[in-house]
Amino acid sequence: MKYKISICLIMFLVLINFSCKPEDSAPDTPDINDNVILHTKWPFPVGAAVPGANTNNSGSNSAVANALNTGSPQHNLLRHFNVVVAENEMKPDALMPASVPSTGNWGANYRWTNADALVNYAESAGKGVRGHCLIWHDQTPSWFFSGSGQGGRASISELYARMENHIKTVFEKYGGRIEWWDVVNEAIDHDVSGPRKDTRGRYTEIMEDAGKTDMDRYEYILKAFQWARQYADENDGGNVKLYLTDFGVERPFSRGGTTKQADFFDLAQWLVQQGAPVDGIGFQGHFRLYDHPVEQISAGIDMFAALGLTIQICELDISIFSNAKNESQRTSVSNSVLGERLSDLAQTYRDYFDMFKEKYYEEKLDMVIIWGLSDGHSWLNNHPVSGRTDYPLLFNRSYQAKEAYQKLVDF
Ligand code: XIL
Repeated sequence: MKYKISICLIMFLVLINFSCKPEDSAPDTPDINDNVILHTKWPFPVGAAVPGANTNNSGSNSAVANALNTGSPQHNLLRHFNVVVAENEMKPDALMPASVPSTGNWGANYRWTNADALVNYAESAGKGVRGHCLIWHDQTPSWFFSGSGQGGRASISELYARMENHIKTVFEKYGGRIEWWDVVNEAIDHDVSGPRKDTRGRYTEIMEDAGKTDMDRYEYILKAFQWARQYADENDGGNVKLYLTDFGVERPFSRGGTTKQADFFDLAQWLVQQGAPVDGIGFQGHFRLYDHPVEQISAGIDMFAALGLTIQICELDISIFSNAKNESQRTSVSNSVLGERLSDLAQTYRDYFDMFKEKYYEEKLDMVIIWGLSDGHSWLNNHPVSGRTDYPLLFNRSYQAKEAYQKLVDF
């Protein structure tokens, strides 16, 4: 009897062990050689978002997640990229103190350590740095938007003083060492027409409090670009290029009779007409397999390039969960489906990159950044559904090259 129980127990443990194996280990062959340095195969810089001390998407040991840590298995993957972006460490909430700085010298109160770690690493490794991001409704401390205005919100003059101080502080610190900056990120509402009006439309609320209507609600964006240019130039940053960035604008994504792309285009065109010192557009590029046809993205690049702006793909990743297949709420796929998805993912990456190369030679696009290094640490494991197991990047959960990597170096 005792013997039978132990046999059952052993079988049970074996079963559990099998079912808990990372799905990557089955169809995603972990022995693809990654000796070819990815960025050398493409004419434009190929960069990556680097998870640093503030980034831990999977809840795992942060020493592993932090790719700047030379002991992290992600560190070695950085060799494939010649531009780096901090995944979180340069966002307003990472740099700013917990409460409004009391002195005139904001920089003395800022938390530079983790941003410095990335810039110093990039300089020692000969890589460029993309700054993400100066002005954003998200990942910004609430004190920034609070004050003596309506409903406890900041007045427009308080907001503008803070924006200018922040931008000035960052350029005084880094000058021309960070060559490309996302000046304003995600200003367009994803759900309703026009500027952000959802619960996080903090800039829009303050603009509307001040009686601004229509395009004037974007005045803060125009000012952000003017301050960015001014303080870059005053701090040896004449080389710095400035971007307006958003997601869901790469193709006509319809909502409420209009598209987010059309509203983003109106904003970009208005900025150009106002003489804003904007150099380019950042398409975030958070795509899903089967949902974002390459021809549509190609047309989107042409559309914005026609304004005289250069496009950068600034946060590329490709979720294997597809809305076209009704998977918006799924958290996993079976191993047999996964095998096919990973091959399709690889081909899709290649199709995008081949198109990006054409756009590069047409002088419409000049950089592609991938949002993360390896699948296990991607933000998409928790977005838009938490606890999801996604496979959006070029390296798998064991930090081995995937077919997607191979497709990008195979020619
Ligand atoms: C994400 C990071 O990847 C996560 O680690 C963090 O928890 C939330 O932000 N658009 C952006 C990026 O502009 O800053 C976001 O990055 C992804 C969506």
